[in-house]
Amino acid sequence: MSQPLRVGVAGLGTVGAGLLRLVQAHGNRLAATIGRPIVVAAVSARVRDKERGVSLAHPKWFDDPTQLAADASIDVFVELIGGDEGVAKTAVEAALAAGKHVVTANKALLARHGTELAQLAEKNGVALNFEGAVAGGIPVIKTLREALASNQIRRVYGILNGTCNYILTKMQDEHRAFADVLREAQARGYAEADPTFDIGGFDTAHKLALLTSLAFGTRVAFDQIDVEGIEAITQADIEAADDLGYRIKLLGVALLTESGIEQRVHPAMVPQHSAIAEVSGVTNCVAVDGDFVGNLLLVGPGAGSTATASAVMSDILDIARGAMSHPFRVPAAKLQPYVRAGLGRHQGAYYVRLAVYDRPGAMARIAGRMGERSVSLESIVQRRPRGAQIGINARLEPGAPTPVILITHETTEEAIRQALEAIHRDGNVSEKPQMIRIEPL
Ligand SMILES: NC(=O)c1ccc[n+]([C@@H]2O[C@H](COP(=O)([O-])OP(=O)(O)OC[C@H]3O[C@@H](n4cnc5c(N)ncnc54)[C@H](OP(=O)(O)O)[C@@H]3O)[C@@H](O)[C@H]2O)c1
Repeated sequence: MSQPLRVGVAGLGTVGAGLLRLVQAHGNRLAATIGRPIVVAAVSARVRDKERGVSLAHPKWFDDPTQLAADASIDVFVELIGGDEGVAKTAVEAALAAGKHVVTANKALLARHGTELAQLAEKNGVALNFEGAVAGGIPVIKTLREALASNQIRRVYGILNGTCNYILTKMQDEHRAFADVLREAQARGYAEADPTFDIGGFDTAHKLALLTSLAFGTRVAFDQIDVEGIEAITQADIEAADDLGYRIKLLGVALLTESGIEQRVHPAMVPQHSAIAEVSGVTNCVAVDGDFVGNLLLVGPGAGSTATASAVMSDILDIARGAMSHPFRVPAAKLQPYVRAGLGRHQGAYYVRLAVYDRPGAMARIAGRMGERSVSLESIVQRRPRGAQIGINARLEPGAPTPVILITHETTEEAIRQALEAIHRDGNVSEKPQMIRIEPL
């Protein structure tokens, strides 16, 4: 048996403690598989005597993760602290500069500084592995980096945030309002006390930025992503989608177009009977469309102590075997500048929900505004809501606005936006029009 691989783990929370449990449960089996033991030689966290459900009798303790990162007692630094700046960044930089391999699950850090950290890793001839950073237990990083490396990827997209998918699934299944389900998700610990990061789409955007770079060989460009969250989705949209044969999912989508790459995070309509529509609750999925492989869909737990520890350990095992890859598939110096395809030129069909005042000529004017921008309509449905719980008067008093659902044929985002702005300005609708993109699958 060869020399043990000595691992230093900084951060002993949900993922870090899970990783230590995995080493304890499967250490012997792993050593037999790779031909060398994995030893947790050192650890760091904020509070030394916190009960973590794992034995910390043997590893050396460090109060300061940055000291641990460069310590001679470790070969690999595993960063499981989190955050895009501060100690996580300092410690990762220190480890790479000291010639230590780094494994991290920190998507926020990589979304902000991934290109520079990859350059630093390559300059020092060490690994920067991050399987746990996207979609938890789903092995999507290595799928893109290795298994699909021969393909020209055309699109990669997925459900990348369990909190949002849980909320949308509950709204769908239990006919409940967004705010109500969010409160329950917070009470159950599925959503943070400040949920903005998840429901605003930013967590999905962090993960998408990494998938985009891996798929298209471009520099990590988190700040170039068009991001919309799920806050504006109402029960009326969920019900209308259901009637029209769709489900609403928060998607992160990276699409290769003639003018560059679209990176977008937004709620999207997906066909009810598609595999992605079936991904419910906190489960995640990632779909990849490659020119030789075709379409594939990976589905599984997108977070959690054990699933993420499984992903982190897969990165450690690669290092133990001596299997090194460029962090973003191609050498960091060869990552191409990201060319953003503006969303205005996005082509697709759209769902629109309007609350239209019952006035003579209102619908004709709305259709006219669509026509002016060459937006043609596949269907127009005047909808009575199913029940009072959706917040719109179920019986509709005289003069109350009528919910009208439009589905467009394929058009450009610029055209539909201009048409909806004009419709809003005309004053025949009582609120800002709701617009949801229909994602072709
Ligand atoms: N949770 C998941 O399901 C999941 C899934 C995928 C990726 N991730 C990523 O994995 C990383 C860790 O997430 P987590 O959920 O495990 O976080 P967590 O439960 O909040 O744990 C964070 C750990 O970092 C330690 N820490 C914080 N500041 C520190 C400092 N200044 N010095 C030393 N240690 C410090 C904490 O110490 P104390 O325990 O002493 O407070 C704690 O052990 C994040 O980047 C996250 O985005 C998490």
